[in-house]
Amino acid sequence: MNKMIQKLKVGVIGTGAIAQNRHIPEYKKNRFVELVGVVDANVSRAKEVAHKFYIQHYYQNVKELIENQDLDIISICTPNHTHKEIAEVCLNKGIHVLCEKPLSTHYKDALALIKLAEEKNVFLAVGLNQRLVPAHNKIKEILDHGDLGKVYQIKASFGHGGPEHWSVEGEKNWFFDREKSFFGSLGDLGIHKIDLIRWFLNEEITDVSSLKSTIEKPTYVDDNATVIMKTEGNTLCTVTTSWTYTPWVQNELMISCEFGTLLLEQNPDKPGLTILKRDMEETVEVDWLIKEKSGYHHSGLIHYFVNSVMSKKEPTLISAKTFLGTLKAIFAAEQSAKMKQTICIND
Ligand SMILES: NC(=O)c1ccc[n+]([C@@H]2O[C@H](COP(=O)([O-])OP(=O)(O)OC[C@H]3O[C@@H](n4cnc5c(N)ncnc54)[C@H](O)[C@@H]3O)[C@@H](O)[C@H]2O)c1
Repeated sequence: MNKMIQKLKVGVIGTGAIAQNRHIPEYKKNRFVELVGVVDANVSRAKEVAHKFYIQHYYQNVKELIENQDLDIISICTPNHTHKEIAEVCLNKGIHVLCEKPLSTHYKDALALIKLAEEKNVFLAVGLNQRLVPAHNKIKEILDHGDLGKVYQIKASFGHGGPEHWSVEGEKNWFFDREKSFFGSLGDLGIHKIDLIRWFLNEEITDVSSLKSTIEKPTYVDDNATVIMKTEGNTLCTVTTSWTYTPWVQNELMISCEFGTLLLEQNPDKPGLTILKRDMEETVEVDWLIKEKSGYHHSGLIHYFVNSVMSKKEPTLISAKTFLGTLKAIFAAEQSAKMKQTICIND
């Protein structure tokens, strides 16, 4: 006899671009969950998205959702300044939370949320989808294998044409409003690269120096930035970010090691990860999304978090605790640009 699986009940807060492109379709495809409701401060958007994805309930605020539905999991896909308050309400209700980056706009808030999740015995994870990208997993596998020796330098860049091309709010998007975003291109895109660097190396960032500028976009946050960092093991890293790149996405990594170099470029004309050694050059095929045999492509984030909740195993790869070192480095980069100084991260 088939054992009936009790599906986990899920809600998604914020029905903008990341919710519609990733969280909602990936929950809908997951057979272990039922996406029962969505919330958006713009209730007509919540209604439209609920209809589009065949979701039964929609609401205008998180309290209405959690009072009316008995949820196991919530995804927070709202602007940065709202994350802390929404996460607090959900954790207090004993719901597992997957919050989009940057989790919080103050370091102390991230610590308080982690403590609350522990007290309530639920998981708090961050949308670190880049750690699940197959191309990045291949790099991690090669570096962990050790053939290339010590990593001496990492050069990363990540940019696109600007959030107005991405956000559902278009030109009047919240990313340009410093009160809501807190961060510019560096906090938006660089956060992923800094996080990847810590993960690739298994090391924390110790020194951070950054320069930021606002060249083109109607905002007080940076639309271009560069940060130079040093890790515990003396690896030097630069991360360059932009909201003004043409063509609209550039995503690159160069990892220079003792016995070779890894080059990764998200460029459809030059697919793959190139491995250069003294006596050989090889390009291996890598993907940017997980490709199932059925033809379904996904980020892996929802699958990973749902599996963690189902199996009651801490989502270590993407847990808020794992992410703290990245937040520290991002705040140090903000401080460095403001004070025009190199910031040393202690402890
Ligand atoms: N992991 C990633 O790669 C990635 C990529 C893009 C965005 N993000 C993150 O996702 C979050 C959302 O970004 P987006 O690109 O989807 O933005 P978006 O502008 O496309 O959508 C935001 C939505 O949130 C709604 N909203 C605003 N305040 C709300 C509130 N208090 N309660 C409920 N809904 C509210 C808005 O009406 C809008 O529909 C941000 O924190 C962003 O940093 C992560």
